[in-house]
Amino acid sequence: MKTAAMRCTMIAASLTVAGAAAGADLVVHPQEWPRPAPALPADARLEARIDALLERMTPAEKIGQLIQANIGSITPDDLRHYPLGSVLNGADFAPGNDKLASPGEWLKLADRFYEASAGAPHALPVLWATDAVHGDNNIPGATIFPHNIGLGAARDPALLRRIGAITALEVRVTGLDWTFAPSVAVVRDARWGRTYESYGENPRLVAECGAALVEGLQGRAGTREFLDAAHVLATAKHFIGDGGTGGHDEGDNTAAEAELRDVDAAGHVAAIAAGVQTVMASFSSWQGAKMHGNRALLTEVLKQRMGFDGLVIGDWDGHAQLPGCTSASCAPAVNAGIDVLMAPESWRPLFVNMLAQANSGEIPAARLEDAVRRVLRVKLRAHLTEEGPPSSRPYAGHFELLASPVHRAVARQAVRESLVLLKNERELLPLKPRARVLVTGDGADSVQRQCGGWTIDWQGRQPSEAIRPAESIYAGIRAAVTAAGGRADLSPGGEFSVRPDVAIVVFGERPYAEGAGDVASLVDPDERRDVTLLERLHAQGIPVVAVLLSGRPLSIEAELALSDSFVAAWLPGAEGGGVADVLFRARDGTLAHDFRGRLPLAWPRTPAAGGAAPAGPLFPYGYGLRYIVKR
Ligand code: GLC
Repeated sequence: MKTAAMRCTMIAASLTVAGAAAGADLVVHPQEWPRPAPALPADARLEARIDALLERMTPAEKIGQLIQANIGSITPDDLRHYPLGSVLNGADFAPGNDKLASPGEWLKLADRFYEASAGAPHALPVLWATDAVHGDNNIPGATIFPHNIGLGAARDPALLRRIGAITALEVRVTGLDWTFAPSVAVVRDARWGRTYESYGENPRLVAECGAALVEGLQGRAGTREFLDAAHVLATAKHFIGDGGTGGHDEGDNTAAEAELRDVDAAGHVAAIAAGVQTVMASFSSWQGAKMHGNRALLTEVLKQRMGFDGLVIGDWDGHAQLPGCTSASCAPAVNAGIDVLMAPESWRPLFVNMLAQANSGEIPAARLEDAVRRVLRVKLRAHLTEEGPPSSRPYAGHFELLASPVHRAVARQAVRESLVLLKNERELLPLKPRARVLVTGDGADSVQRQCGGWTIDWQGRQPSEAIRPAESIYAGIRAAVTAAGGRADLSPGGEFSVRPDVAIVVFGERPYAEGAGDVASLVDPDERRDVTLLERLHAQGIPVVAVLLSGRPLSIEAELALSDSFVAAWLPGAEGGGVADVLFRARDGTLAHDFRGRLPLAWPRTPAAGGAAPAGPLFPYGYGLRYIVKR
C-alpha cells in the first residue's frame, strides 16, 4: 500500500516537463499548488449545447477554432475558406493598416469578420482580441489610463474595477470582444522592459489588482453583468513566471517550483477565482524549458489542479520556439495544453498541418476535443452565438462614450492616486497656484512620454498630437495656475526672463514595449542632460519639484539631491492634469488632493561604478510620503 507521500513522489516523478533541456527533468507537484474555488457553477445546459455543436462540427471546423490569425494577414473573405475561431490586431496593426483608423473603421471591419465567420453552416462567429492594456489604447480617441505599475502604486481595487469596466465598454463601442489583459506578472527586476505592465513585486498586490481588473473587464462572475454586452473577455498573462527572468524579456525563470507557485502564480490564481476566461502562455522558460511546451504546468497545474476551464492561448508565434516546431506546425504546444495557437501570419499552413496532425493522431482526439470544447465554452459564455453582428450590439457605435468626460475623470483620478512622493524638503509641496511657475524638462509637454508603449502603436512612438483627447502635465499646471491668477511658462530648456517662484522639471524615459525596453542598467540614457538642467536651476536657488515619467524605478540619486521635492509619476497616460491636482493647493488655499501612492516595488540604489550591488533599496516597497500624516 503506497503512502500518500510515496504516491505524491510517483505522481510528481511522472510529470516531467515536455521539451525540458536534456537531463533537466523537472518535477512539478500539482497537488501542492493552490486550488481556487470555481468562479462559475457547473452548467449542464451549457455543456449539452457544446456537445451538440461538437457533434455537428467537421474536423476542419474544429481545427479552425484552435487558430488565431492577425488582421494584418487575414481578410474576412479568408474565413469563408478557413473557419478560424478568432483574430487579433497585433499592437502595430489596425484596419486598413492605418494606426489612426477611426473607431468607425474598427467597427466596420469587425462586422465584416463576423459576417464571414457566421455565414457558413454551423459556423461559429469569430472573436476579435486586442491588447487594451491601459484603456482601449489602440484606438485614437479612447481613454488612456496609467499603466499597471502606477495602478499598483495606487492600491485601489475599486478604481481598477472602474478602469476595467470603462475599458471593456470602449472596446465594445468599437466592435471587439476580447482583451489580452491584465498582465499578472510579479516583477522582480526593474531592468525588464515589461516592468510597467506589472502591478509590482508583491504577489498579494498583483493578485488583488489583477482580480479587480478581471472583474471590471468581464463583470462579476455569477451576476447578470458577467460577459454581458458592456463587458469583454479578459486574459491573465503570461503563464507562468514571466516576471522572474532576471530582467530579460522571454528569458529563463530559474526559481524553484515553490517560488513559481507562491509568487508567480498568485495573480493567475486570483484571476481564475474572479472568473477569467482566457490565459495566455508565456514566451519565457522555466528551468530552461519553454512554457509553451510545459504540459505539467499548462495542463496538470493550470487546468486540472487550479480548475481553469476557459481557454489557454499561446503568445505571438510562441509555439514556434519549441524544439522541432515552426510557426506552421507544433503539435507539442497543443498537446502540452495550449488550446489556441496565436499564428499571426502562418495560420494557413498551420491549419493544414494541424488537420493532418489530428487525422494522424499526433494530436490525440481527446486533446483536440478538450481544446475545442474550451473555445466553445468561452464563446457560449460570451453569448457569441446570440449577440448578432458587432454593430448591432447595444454599445457598438456609441463613439461619444470614447474618452467621455466621466471616463476621463476616472483616468485623472487614477493619475492622482498613482503618484508617489519620494521627497518634500521644507514642505515645498503643495504649491500655491497663484505663483509664477517655470515648467521645464522634455516630459513637461509630451503626452507621448506620459503614455509610453502600447499606445496607438506597440512602442508608443506616435506623436503626442495623435493621442487625443489628452492633457499634458504642463497644460494641467497652466490651467490650475492661471485659474488662480498665477502664470505658468513652458521652457523645455529651463530658460526664463523673469525669475520663477518655483520650477517643475518633468523628465524620464522614452516610450518602449517588451524586449525593446530591457536595459542592462537603470541609469537613464538622458540622465546627464536632466542633471545639467537641475544643476542650473539649483545653482540659481530656484526651488525645484522633479516629476519622473518612467515605467520603472531608475537611477535618481543625483536628481534627488538637486530637487527639493521629487514625485514618481510612472506612465500616467493621457490625463496629465492629475499631476497638477496633487502638486497644487486649491484656489482657496485648501488642500485639494493628498498623495496616496506607495511604491509597488522597492527602488534600487545605483551601484557605484564597478562596485558591488549596494546594500538595501534607496526606498523600500510601500514607501510614499503624504502631506497630512495620519496618526
Ligand atoms: C505580444 C505580447 C503579448 C500580447 C501579444 C499580442 O508579443 O507578449 O502580451 O498580448 O503579443 O499582441
